[in-house]
Amino acid sequence: MCGIIGFCGYLDAKEELVKGLAELEYRGYDSAGIACFTEQGIEVVKSVGKVEGLRNRIPAKMETGCGIGHTRWATHGGVSEINAHPHTCGSVTMIHNGIIENYHALAEELKETGRTPVSQTDTEIAAMLLDSLYQGDALAALRGAVEKLEGAYAFCILFADQKDVIYCIRKGSPLVCCSSEEGSVVASDMVALLRYSKEYFVLPEFQVAKVTKSGISVTELDGTEVSPSMLSIQWDMSAAQKNGFKHYMLKEIHEQPEAIRRTLTPRMKKGRYLLPDFAEDGIPDTVFLQADRIVIAACGTAMHAGMLGRILMERLLRIPVSVEVASEFRYADPILDEKSLVILVSQSGETADTLAALRLAKEKGAKTLAVVNVKGSSIARESDYVLYTHAGPEIAVASTKAYTAQLAALYLLVFRFAYVAGKISAEEVSGYMKELDGVGELIEKVLERKEQVKELSKRLTPVQDLFFIGRGLDYALACEGSIKLKEITYIHSEAYAAGELKHGTLSLVTGGTPVIALATQPEVFGKMISNVKEVRARGAMVILITKEEKKDGLESGIFEEHLVIPFCRDIVAPFAAAVYLQLLAYYTSSYRGLDVDQPRNLAKSVTVE
Ligand code: F6R
Repeated sequence: MCGIIGFCGYLDAKEELVKGLAELEYRGYDSAGIACFTEQGIEVVKSVGKVEGLRNRIPAKMETGCGIGHTRWATHGGVSEINAHPHTCGSVTMIHNGIIENYHALAEELKETGRTPVSQTDTEIAAMLLDSLYQGDALAALRGAVEKLEGAYAFCILFADQKDVIYCIRKGSPLVCCSSEEGSVVASDMVALLRYSKEYFVLPEFQVAKVTKSGISVTELDGTEVSPSMLSIQWDMSAAQKNGFKHYMLKEIHEQPEAIRRTLTPRMKKGRYLLPDFAEDGIPDTVFLQADRIVIAACGTAMHAGMLGRILMERLLRIPVSVEVASEFRYADPILDEKSLVILVSQSGETADTLAALRLAKEKGAKTLAVVNVKGSSIARESDYVLYTHAGPEIAVASTKAYTAQLAALYLLVFRFAYVAGKISAEEVSGYMKELDGVGELIEKVLERKEQVKELSKRLTPVQDLFFIGRGLDYALACEGSIKLKEITYIHSEAYAAGELKHGTLSLVTGGTPVIALATQPEVFGKMISNVKEVRARGAMVILITKEEKKDGLESGIFEEHLVIPFCRDIVAPFAAAVYLQLLAYYTSSYRGLDVDQPRNLAKSVTVE
């Protein structure tokens, strides 16, 4: 949410900033702006809309080696040039990712110093505060500001009298840093660092990075020098590019077989039996054996992965498992103790509500385990244990490969837990693991059938409303199918537990209403087909998803379109169904002519609450 970048070095800084902003644009695309040191002082250029618009506004003759850039997802104040970052007050020019919660009270206080904002943003108030505290000593001003600011922030700050220096500090929101021969770079996400270096560090909270072209020094707020721990990026630039695909989303859908293999392979211990093993992740079996209840907290798609995980856990472990929307969990005064295991699921590892849920769980003495994609992210660092999904960078706002990799990681956790708790035998686990090992191939087979989904999507293109229905694992999938479709096609859709539809919502199903019915699980298959008939009787246009083995026994006329999951064990069918749902959303959005990768009002990595 909001992308920020700072560059100080031996290249044309304005060019580097714009390239970086284009890479960070998935974090927000309401407006963009840069501020650079030039011979004339600090020059600021802003524009409403995407980074491309900003590029066209930057004077070619601007000479600069140091500056900061921002791409905005609006929180405080509408989408306008005046609200676009960077914001300036006196000697301070800065960019911000996060939310200053007490900005209103601070603005009132600062009035007395004669400073009045011109924008409606919380960031401008932070700039005013810093300007009021700055008397040539950046650390002193930052110390004063940190004491007063409430909320979350990653700041990159230019002080007018300190040419070619960027100061950075953060609380809550992410900021990663690297140095290379070309110069020093800071950014919200390492995708913007890749062109410079594979070695980077996460700026620790409340420490200050002083960025110059010769390097980055980090100190505590009192000036004590610190050396942050270095991390390495495992992938290269091509992983963060479209590589011939029209959209990142389509590329990421196709990357799923490989992403899942990367999640599974390091944890598959081959011996007499194929068992999941977390020795290299440093997750001891005691984590599972001591837990008498599990809570999964996450947001959006990650939460839908958790819903599926929950069903499997309860089925195989027979202990209570709940799934919590992280933003609700943190205010619900949850009942947790040292025997509770809280699993946080997050692609970015920076989602503010999931991070807050983690902190609350720790406060209450629960053990915490994170299933995270982004290495070194806040949730990964703060959890007791972390299981990385290794799905690689996910750039499209709509999550695809991160979701199926989360599912794979949750399956591994369930199997290991059930095995060490003696709930299933080594032989049974091994059987499940072999199925899981074949998921990459299963998805490849579904991808071979994408032309059918593409064709079918034409029928959804003009639609206003539709429904997804399913039971059990399929209900969790229905929720995921629905959010995917909504977010990128702007079609109103609802996910319903199939048996619940007739308790009110069925009144919305009329002639031609599309209903996407998932019937992949044998124990509820008969009941699902009854629910399909109920909507069919009201004239619904049914798109049915079943497994191959059910294909022949289906009554004619109960569906208009049929998507078939290739032969596989029931437990892994959700992976295949998920890919069908992703393709359906993707092609429908494409046919509607929408911005698939950057849907309106949304942004990836939701670092505000
Ligand atoms: C939807 C989507 C979001 C995220 C949610 C949590 O396609 O991507 O619903 O799943 O914002 O994000 P992470 O996983 O980064 O915590």
